[in-house]
Amino acid sequence: MKALVFHGPGQKAWEDASKPTILSDTDAIVRVDAVTICGTDLHILKGDVPAVTDGRILGHEAVGTVEAVGVGLNTVKVGDRVLVSCITSCGVCRFCRERRYGQCLGGGGWILGHKIDGTQAEYVRVPFADTSTYQVPAGVADEQILMLADILPTGYEVGVLNGTVQPGDVVAVVGAGPIGLAAIMGARLFSPSHIVAIDLADSRLDAAKQFGADVVVNNTREDAAAIIAELTGGLGADVSIEAVGVPATFEQAVQLARPGGHIANIGVHGESVTLHLEELWIRDVTITTGLVDTYTTPTLLRLLINRQLDAGRFVTHHFSLDQFEEAYDVFARAGETGALKVVLSRS
Ligand SMILES: NC(=O)c1ccc[n+]([C@@H]2O[C@H](COP(=O)([O-])OP(=O)(O)OC[C@H]3O[C@@H](n4cnc5c(N)ncnc54)[C@H](O)[C@@H]3O)[C@@H](O)[C@H]2O)c1
Ligand SMILES: [Zn+2]
Ligand SMILES: [Zn+2]
Repeated sequence: MKALVFHGPGQKAWEDASKPTILSDTDAIVRVDAVTICGTDLHILKGDVPAVTDGRILGHEAVGTVEAVGVGLNTVKVGDRVLVSCITSCGVCRFCRERRYGQCLGGGGWILGHKIDGTQAEYVRVPFADTSTYQVPAGVADEQILMLADILPTGYEVGVLNGTVQPGDVVAVVGAGPIGLAAIMGARLFSPSHIVAIDLADSRLDAAKQFGADVVVNNTREDAAAIIAELTGGLGADVSIEAVGVPATFEQAVQLARPGGHIANIGVHGESVTLHLEELWIRDVTITTGLVDTYTTPTLLRLLINRQLDAGRFVTHHFSLDQFEEAYDVFARAGETGALKVVLSRS
């Protein structure tokens, strides 16, 4: 088969690779029908994720058709159409029993395209397939379901739910990439009074408006704190969501929250960040961090089926599987290309 193989920082190729086989009784082999690229894949290509080594097939999001199943599987069957999620779950360890699948101790967590071969291939081996895949309902496009593999549960769980967005809240979202936009889409479900999107790129702020932000702030020329102060009688945002992953935006997200407010960090941080406890100790704030667990995937799937979530809105570019090089290029130059999510499909 062909697969997108990582060969060290800056190097990848769509090349021949061995077709995966069942290694454990709870594995399924899934034929990949639609797959996408994540900002995290770009981090890997920069060399930011050293656990990913030469020869690893990238990718942790896919929709596909089950081609083979291990004898230990009870629900997943050959021919099933399934969503392959970024988080794999053994289903029985302490953290899986507490629905913290991202922290799975039994061999799951974020493993696809990280510790084992991933989804950017014609076929993928999915461990613990009963508890790590979701049946694709009839009548919903693959590319919509695909948005549930990572960005929508991440924005919803780590941003909106950790931040405890309530009706009437003023919500600040720092960073309007796919993750920030997913947080905006999820926050809307709770009828906040204002969603303020903050980014450096006007193209991303335009997208934020389409996704439901009613106030947009360009950090290069506008003062987010002053704009939010005006909306809140000087108090600050009820919930402030960080969706970038650099020190400056974490500090800004903290600064934008009101006393008693919530700061939900989503960004993956590679550098030390200052927490200004000398200012915060008196402000009663709650700061949360998190790796996505994907425990909300069934909820998000229902909302998608009932058209309460327009997941297809994320998809800006389409390619066939053999166009990975072009797709990565378009996705990596999002500022110029306007890319949010690119979808590669089996032709
Ligand atoms: N916690 C999790 O489980 C989880 C899961 C997936 C992704 N992530 C992380 O979420 C973050 C966002 O992901 P993404 O795919 O949307 O990334 P992205 O790079 O596409 O988007 C980031 C956005 O932040 C903006 N930005 C950069 N610097 C800024 C600044 N100083 N002020 C305001 N805006 C600024 C950029 O213009 C861009 O639009 C990343 O750090 C990613 O690794 C976390
Ligand atoms: Zn991802
Ligand atoms: Zn587990």
